[in-house]
Amino acid sequence: MAGGASSPALVAAVSEAGGLGFLAAGYKTADGMYQEIKQVRGLTGRPFGVNLFLPQPEYPGAVTGSTGAVRAAHPVTAAVDVYRHQLAGEAAWYQTSLGDPDSGRDDNYDAKLAILVEDPVPLVTFTFGCPTREVIAALRNVGTRTAVTVTTVDEALAAQWSGADAVCVQGIEAGGHQGTHRDNPEADGSGIGLLALIAQVREAVQLPVIAAGGIMRGAQIAAVLAAGAELAQLGTAFLVTPESGAPALHKQAMTDPLFTRTELTRAFSGRPARGLVNRFLREHGPYAPAAYPEVHHMTSPVRKAAAKAGDPQAMALWAGQGHRLARELPAGQLVEVLAAELAAATAALGQQGAA
Ligand SMILES: Cc1cc2nc3c(=O)[nH]c(=O)nc-3n(C[C@H](O)[C@H](O)[C@H](O)COP(=O)(O)O)c2cc1C
Repeated sequence: MAGGASSPALVAAVSEAGGLGFLAAGYKTADGMYQEIKQVRGLTGRPFGVNLFLPQPEYPGAVTGSTGAVRAAHPVTAAVDVYRHQLAGEAAWYQTSLGDPDSGRDDNYDAKLAILVEDPVPLVTFTFGCPTREVIAALRNVGTRTAVTVTTVDEALAAQWSGADAVCVQGIEAGGHQGTHRDNPEADGSGIGLLALIAQVREAVQLPVIAAGGIMRGAQIAAVLAAGAELAQLGTAFLVTPESGAPALHKQAMTDPLFTRTELTRAFSGRPARGLVNRFLREHGPYAPAAYPEVHHMTSPVRKAAAKAGDPQAMALWAGQGHRLARELPAGQLVEVLAAELAAATAALGQQGAA
């Protein structure tokens, strides 16, 4: 969970309790990622994973490093410039400036990979694209297992071709960004629910499936395992734990009756991500352009200023569809509760099967 939620303390607590904690490398410098890896190692000797964002390809025909006038000639950069004007009032209201949309598209991917090959961790997962076969092979050579987040069968096929060890099948219910390999506005509204997607991926590829999206209870873990997944992945459920580094306002919003719905939106980052519907999402979501990470960079100061001002209405309140079921338990205890619920649900299913 990029953005601070997956703190080293949360990763370690989950792994210590028998889960598999994941450190988010997204939005961090390579050294920032490495420092956190060392902190996790200091807290637990148990396996954990690191999650990387794929660099975003240049837009076809984009002119880089040129004047503003030439930049505006490209449809995507022109759309970003329009959105910048539409957000001017937000920056003024929160007494800040919009960020530079051209602050970087690669998320320091190569430098992070170099560290992970030099000083391996047990697992590396990828989102927003599929790594090359060379990258997967380099990690395998140093004993690291890999998984790629997929939201369609085609993406799962690409992950299998790349040589990944598993696919993380992310349903449309999931909190935060959809890990879609290429953002395609024409596909808006065609996102696939988790159970439907697990079944399709199982029949298309031979890789083990990690299921993610809307899972908040052990009985749901039993359901995705019954559907063919090997593992379940939970984000929102752990976001509210004391170990999570998510801002207190974000944690409180999960079960605040003020926030009744989640929606997929490009308002904050330019890529579809599921968050609680607040004022910013409602106002800007309808016209936010498909321009990641430009929109992410541009809105970053506004989101930070809103958080500092104690105003959740312009923060990116990422949340899965199950957010209302969030339980504010210590992370280790949450793993234990989920395991007990899973055991109970599995036993109940067994009894029904025998009857
Ligand atoms: C706050 C937040 C941050 C997230 N950040 C990442 C990330 O950095 N990388 C990633 O692959 N997925 C990220 N996700 C998505 C999760 O990996 C996962 O797909 C999702 O949390 C599952 O749905 P759930 O939140 O309903 O459990 C994030 C989710 C949330 C809620």
